[in-house]
Amino acid sequence: MNEKQIAAEYAVDYVEDGMIVGLGTGSTVAFMLNKLSQRVKTGLTIKAVSTSAATTKLATTLGIKISKLNEIDEIDLTIDGADEVDENLNGIKGGGGALLYEKIVASISKKNIWIVDSKKLVKTLGKFPLPVEVVQYGSNHLFKEFEKKGYKPGFRNVGKNRFITDSNNYIIDLRMDRIEDPSVLDIKLKSYPGVVETGLFYNVADLVLAGIGDSVKVINKKKREQT
Ligand code: 5RP
Repeated sequence: MNEKQIAAEYAVDYVEDGMIVGLGTGSTVAFMLNKLSQRVKTGLTIKAVSTSAATTKLATTLGIKISKLNEIDEIDLTIDGADEVDENLNGIKGGGGALLYEKIVASISKKNIWIVDSKKLVKTLGKFPLPVEVVQYGSNHLFKEFEKKGYKPGFRNVGKNRFITDSNNYIIDLRMDRIEDPSVLDIKLKSYPGVVETGLFYNVADLVLAGIGDSVKVINKKKREQT
């Protein structure tokens, strides 16, 4: 098993019968969904909400029924991946392009668990390009603004085409290199008309499960401990 799978399978133990569970997006989450579906097939009863079309498709294929977010009150637990996590459990997400729905789902979750491999644990965020979801209209102007600021922007593409999010927006990835204060940058970026959401997730994760070699490091928001 690789580190992503080890962390992902460990996370499934946090899911309890009767819970409303938020399902993140990405390759680590895919491992989690596989394991979760085994528990569902053997009697675990949950309601699940999804953070992307891709996750909805995979979960449904695996026999996990997806409920509409507007039809549930509050989410008990969301399990999601991340692209970078710092020592305060702030993170960059959106490498898979699902940052908007991921942030919405996280914001109404009582508990958020992130599952990552060891390479994603960093001292300071910013080496991973920061995804910013922007409306298509006028996005070239936003791009130029980001360029002027020295954010080193790049439109995300799939082959020759622009990547389109589930909400029909573009993503501009910013090569910041070092993000000293995620909350300040998040507020600054959101002040640009046309910016829908950023991949800066601060004060969101309650627990990070990091696969390190053959074991899982359980990192709580305040203190760190090894299992
Ligand atoms: C998608 C995300 C993913 O959780 C993040 O990109 C990690 O992906 P992976 O598990 O494939 O490494 O934020 O928008």
